Amino acid sequence: MYPLLKINLNKFQENVDSISRLCASHHISIMAVTKVFCADKKLVEIFNKSNIQYIADSRLDNLRGITTDKEKVLLRLPSLHELEDVVKIADISLNSEFETIRRINETAKNLNKKHKVLLMIDIGDLREGIYHKENIVNIVRDIQTFQYVDLIGIGTNVTCYGGIIPNKNTLGKLIEIIELIKQTMDIDFTLISGGNSSHIHLLKDNYAIPYINNLRIGEAFALGRETAYGENIENTHQDVFTLEADLIEIKFKPSIPEGEIGMNAFGERPTFEDFGLMKRGILAIGRQDVDFHELMPYDNQLRFVGSSSDHIIVDLTHTDKDYEVGDVIKFKVSYGSLLSLMTSKYVRKVYVE
Ligand SMILES: Cc1ncc(COP(=O)(O)O)c(C=O)c1O
Repeated sequence: MYPLLKINLNKFQENVDSISRLCASHHISIMAVTKVFCADKKLVEIFNKSNIQYIADSRLDNLRGITTDKEKVLLRLPSLHELEDVVKIADISLNSEFETIRRINETAKNLNKKHKVLLMIDIGDLREGIYHKENIVNIVRDIQTFQYVDLIGIGTNVTCYGGIIPNKNTLGKLIEIIELIKQTMDIDFTLISGGNSSHIHLLKDNYAIPYINNLRIGEAFALGRETAYGENIENTHQDVFTLEADLIEIKFKPSIPEGEIGMNAFGERPTFEDFGLMKRGILAIGRQDVDFHELMPYDNQLRFVGSSSDHIIVDLTHTDKDYEVGDVIKFKVSYGSLLSLMTSKYVRKVYVE
């Protein structure tokens, strides 16, 4: 029964509607990213009924399980060991390695199925993408010689690894590259994919970046916030997902373990602060399901003490509510906790309207 993750489908639908309207008003198409909720079928269905143009995921396994009329996009750069599946399952993939694109062309030829490629440029976040711009024109020219690869555009990603904020300066590097390509060759890209949920702050401020006509959005749909500054997006909900976990023990105990301290279950040497005698609760959910640092209790008098694989220990000493064993505690989730809670098969997913 517990732990469970409540998923409010109406609130998710409203997030999808508001953010799609915002993007459409800036003539920006959307790749709806499903990976934070493991391509959950009911949530994908909401994307399917929307006017969003593409469904995207970083995991091929998730994409494989998605039924949709929209084009499927593989977000993570393809592995050379899975190219046949990439071409069979995805219509489009994000790429930065010429050798991979060359091998995609060969694979696509063997399968007699064309594959679309979005070439990724790194503008400073230092995850995927071509970094040295002097190479780009030659790479684009070479890709264009491939018969089974259709280079549909270029893209960039920031605020994922390096935390770089998309603004006029950062995205100026992308614009320079687009202009360099346009000056050197006669090419008209269908897509200039400008980034992820961190780009939304620019739209909110009505700041249109030239050329960008597509965004790949995951977190903003799920949590109703842009990710450059973490601000809530107008007309969206931040509580589409709520975690509920139940208390399986409540006891008064000291705050410092007794005896010689060695390592905990994760090989770490724990340290403790002395808060005296505490009313300690144990929740039936643990580190195998979620990192408690990424959970926000609705009861803000509750404090986290620690966790092991199957337990989260909480301090109930200062809560107004007199908790009893069996009581259920509710938490708001962050991106990180949503990702792991959706991935954990031990957390039941319950849909509410
Ligand atoms: C390449 C790429 N684009 C877009 C996204 C979506 O990012 P966000 O969830 O911040 O919108 C991700 C992450 O899932 C990604 O890896």
